[in-house]
Amino acid sequence: MKALILSGGKGTRLRPLTYTGAKQLVPVANKPILWYGIESIVKAGITEIGIIISPETGEEIRRKTDNGEQLGANITYIVQDEPLGLAHAVKVAQSFLGDDPFIMYLGDNLIQDDLNLFLDKFKNKHLDGLILLRSVPNPTAFGVAEVDNQGRVLKLVEKPKNPPSNLALVGVYFFSPGIHEAIANIQPSARGELEITDAIQELIDSEKIVESLQLNGWWLDTGKKDDLLEANRIILDTNLTINKLGNIDENSKISGRVNIKEGSKIINSTIRGPVIIGENCHIENCFIGPYTSIGDQCTLIDADIEHSVLLEGAQVLEIHQRIVDSLIGQRAKLEMAPQRPKALRFMVGDDSHIELV
Ligand code: TTP
Repeated sequence: MKALILSGGKGTRLRPLTYTGAKQLVPVANKPILWYGIESIVKAGITEIGIIISPETGEEIRRKTDNGEQLGANITYIVQDEPLGLAHAVKVAQSFLGDDPFIMYLGDNLIQDDLNLFLDKFKNKHLDGLILLRSVPNPTAFGVAEVDNQGRVLKLVEKPKNPPSNLALVGVYFFSPGIHEAIANIQPSARGELEITDAIQELIDSEKIVESLQLNGWWLDTGKKDDLLEANRIILDTNLTINKLGNIDENSKISGRVNIKEGSKIINSTIRGPVIIGENCHIENCFIGPYTSIGDQCTLIDADIEHSVLLEGAQVLEIHQRIVDSLIGQRAKLEMAPQRPKALRFMVGDDSHIELV
């Protein structure tokens, strides 16, 4: 059994962050999203992992994740020259996958459930495909499955106008090597991509056995800002351990679950967890409220922030209004004049989004 993680793609919904970086490396509780997927696959006993990367952002993924040893995996990188669809990514990985069954995992998805339960069903029943489903309030925005009462999949439809059910396809799939033939038999969709839903439908139409299981826990697709903040909230709520390695002065108050890494200085500030603060940060005269993740080397002075994610090297200086629900990119600097500002001055990258609420 192998695994294939898809970490190419365009990432248009997370621009401008994805102009310079891979969306799968955007951190959730200071750890790249992609690493949660790798850890979950390794926990299920699969270490041979192929990662699909794009020519634009692949190098950064390779540099940060390396051969996967630190995560207990043995990683092979596979370049997909253009993001021509999820099934296209499987095609590109065919020589890595060989005749092995495999888990296909979208690199920007996070699920709470252990993969073992699903893997056992896939193996024990010798299925050709196993898909994971989750009921959603807005099925028209997803790939949707119609299943019988045994969980056998009858039909899949991509973003249907009249959904046959409210069961959306989660970005984790299990396939036998028969998927390669199915992919060879499909054509690109109207949006020019080889769709994995079409390949699964091809399996069903050729009488192969495709079953489904519903997730018990949460599922997050972190491709958009609000989903990413939600993932950050859930992971900080469920996974954060208390650890205070930084230097905290006596005028600071820390309450709740707070994790502060080595080399960070907390001066005259209040931190109310769950909060994670990376290495070598400088935090002075601040209020840092719940559900905030601050990456390494960030500087916050006279700032008030909660429910937000700051990437490495970000700076927030002298902004006394509370910053909420924000995603602040690497080395971005937010600053306000000490006296009440008479004008606002911006230098903002393409596709940025600023809300003065
Ligand atoms: P999507 O989020 O569906 O696509 P995208 O990354 O192009 O994002 P956006 O819609 O914001 O433009 O992709 C799901 C995952 O699969 C994601 O980790 C990127 C990856 N992917 C590939 O590796 N190759 C592909 O051809 C496509 C379409 C996606």
